[in-house]
Amino acid sequence: MSIYNRVIRSLVFKLDPETAHDLGIWAIRSGLAARFSGIDVDEASKGLGTELFGLSFKNPLGLAAGFDKNAIAVDQLAALGFGFIETGTVTLRPQPGHDKPRLFRLPKDRALINRLGFNNEGAKAAADRLSKIERSCVVGVNIGKNKDVPNEEAVENYLATFEIVHPVADYVAVNISSPNTPDLRELQKGESLDRLLSALQEKNQELGSKPLLVKIAPDLTEPEIEAAVDKCIAHQINAIIATNTTVSRNGLKTPNVDAIGAGGLSGCPLRKRSDEVISKIYRHSKGRLPIIGVGGVFNGNDLFRKIELGASLVQAYTGFIYGGPRFAVDALAELKNRLNERGSGVVADAVGTASDLRA
Ligand code: FNR
Repeated sequence: MSIYNRVIRSLVFKLDPETAHDLGIWAIRSGLAARFSGIDVDEASKGLGTELFGLSFKNPLGLAAGFDKNAIAVDQLAALGFGFIETGTVTLRPQPGHDKPRLFRLPKDRALINRLGFNNEGAKAAADRLSKIERSCVVGVNIGKNKDVPNEEAVENYLATFEIVHPVADYVAVNISSPNTPDLRELQKGESLDRLLSALQEKNQELGSKPLLVKIAPDLTEPEIEAAVDKCIAHQINAIIATNTTVSRNGLKTPNVDAIGAGGLSGCPLRKRSDEVISKIYRHSKGRLPIIGVGGVFNGNDLFRKIELGASLVQAYTGFIYGGPRFAVDALAELKNRLNERGSGVVADAVGTASDLRA
């Protein structure tokens, strides 16, 4: 067990979760986290490089959106071993998010509940930072809608945000799946989704095409997932990110969880549903729509499972909070073992190879 798991985590977990998050970002940004963890990123990533939508990834494990919303620690996060960092969600105008407390730990479930509500400094602040840093990994920008913008005006709001981040993003992810912005998830369906994706793709062509991704919720029904996948393919979306947090509270060990109130649940309890959604997308699209799998990844086995079920790349957030600075390198070491045991050792060869996927 690392010093983080033995000592530091128990101290950090005594702090209120948002203070702990701010402290964590500070430790990462200052370079302390990487220095004390003895991480050699090139060694950890060796043999794990992979290509997707024209970009080269050092390894297939990325940091999911929401951790570095304002792009303040991108390089230092890459130094912890992540193959790509998804910054954001950013919105057109800065917004404070919901009142505190709005982030909760559920250690019995190895989970988090958050209702941050897209607290961020706005797209321009993040874009300015990203324009100045030197990148050592792929950097995506995840965009959302301002809370005070009704869905009828969502397209204009997303388009304006997209224009700001487009020049500095290696890819742009469209977040229409956060449970913490009223009605946002309606944009995943029907004509609303068509309108949004065609407007964004048109703007994308105009600005010089960059990979455009869509992030979906785990709470969609099976027909809704199929319909969303069909629309993503029709609009030439480069990949789908599955999944965001869930509003479900099924099967939790944490007592009295309803007292926490509304919010998105992430971590271990989300893993099974996220895996189901990934396999559903892979089967339905017959592998034609690349998938970034996210939800409940805590180690290299979880990471391998998502690849095996059809994910070309994987992301994690909650596993990193529980696992600490060595999370990515430890997971990558385990992934290498699984890839060598089960196949050629090459990430891309393992995508969609699960025997239960064909059952
Ligand atoms: C998130 N997530 C998230 N997703 C997103 O697209 N935009 C965001 O701003 C956020 N913010 C956010 C904050 C916090 C505190 C958490 C825990 C999560 C969702 C995240 O990117 C991921 O999809 C889910 O958390 C599931 O993955 P894990 O956490 O189970 O690995």
